[in-house]
Amino acid sequence: MTGTQAHYENGRYYDQAYRRRRHDVRFYTDLALESGGPVLELGVGTGRVALTIAKAGIGVVGIEPMEPMLEQARQRVGRLPHSARGRIELRQGDLMRLRLRRKFPLVIAPFNVWMHLYTREEIERGFATVRHHLGPGGRFAFDVLLPDPVSLARVPSKQYRGGEVPHPRDGVRYRYSEYFSYDHATQIETVVMDFEHPVKKDQSFCTPLTQRQFFPAELEALLHYNGFEVESHTSDFDGGPITAATESQVIIARARRSTP
Ligand SMILES: C[S@@+](CC[C@H](N)C(=O)[O-])C[C@H]1O[C@@H](n2cnc3c(N)ncnc32)[C@H](O)[C@@H]1O
Repeated sequence: MTGTQAHYENGRYYDQAYRRRRHDVRFYTDLALESGGPVLELGVGTGRVALTIAKAGIGVVGIEPMEPMLEQARQRVGRLPHSARGRIELRQGDLMRLRLRRKFPLVIAPFNVWMHLYTREEIERGFATVRHHLGPGGRFAFDVLLPDPVSLARVPSKQYRGGEVPHPRDGVRYRYSEYFSYDHATQIETVVMDFEHPVKKDQSFCTPLTQRQFFPAELEALLHYNGFEVESHTSDFDGGPITAATESQVIIARARRSTP
């Protein structure tokens, strides 16, 4: 689907864009420590979360389909102290098809990975993968954005200007803006990130990002009908309730012993 890959074609840009996002790293690392590991991370990206888990002494297997993200992760792993380096295993793969011959006490999918599963079939395949890899009593933790009805009603032609963004591909400071469009039937939002070159307009470019929106009660129903029980469904990694101000829904679930 358009917008599934473009945002992940440059691992260095990804790390630059999300360098200040740390609160979720602490949350997932605490869960990893509680579990004792090893941890399976679905959609490991550039290793933003996995590296900290490995540095904390817990083994991680990271699955990622996008080679540029994996390459950035490999480089980052290469700069870790030897002991932590040995705790990370990176594999190219698609979470919808993954079948390792291993079980884990904790499976995680941090930072909107699940929003790249667009149809019911894809979501069900994702949950089947998680169930396949969870050991007895194991936990599945992930987060997705809380849909914001006001934001989803934005006019697709309206430009939302950001500031200037230096892009690692050439170091140029691009003028950054975004356009949002939402398909009410499929619940898929596309954000077009527009990078305007300050001088050479023919070098301007844009990257689409496509994300499936999950409404909270819908998400709990999907988990229930796919064999999970929800342990907690909270807001923004601080354990509080979901409110209108919530940005990320944070879910911890376990596989139910018997499915309905
Ligand atoms: C927003 S990034 C999050 C990366 C990392 N978990 C983090 O917290 O920084 C979403 C990641 O999900 C990956 N992804 C998308 N579809 C996937 C799939 N079917 N299987 C595995 N990973 C997928 C993307 O390539 C991307 O690296």
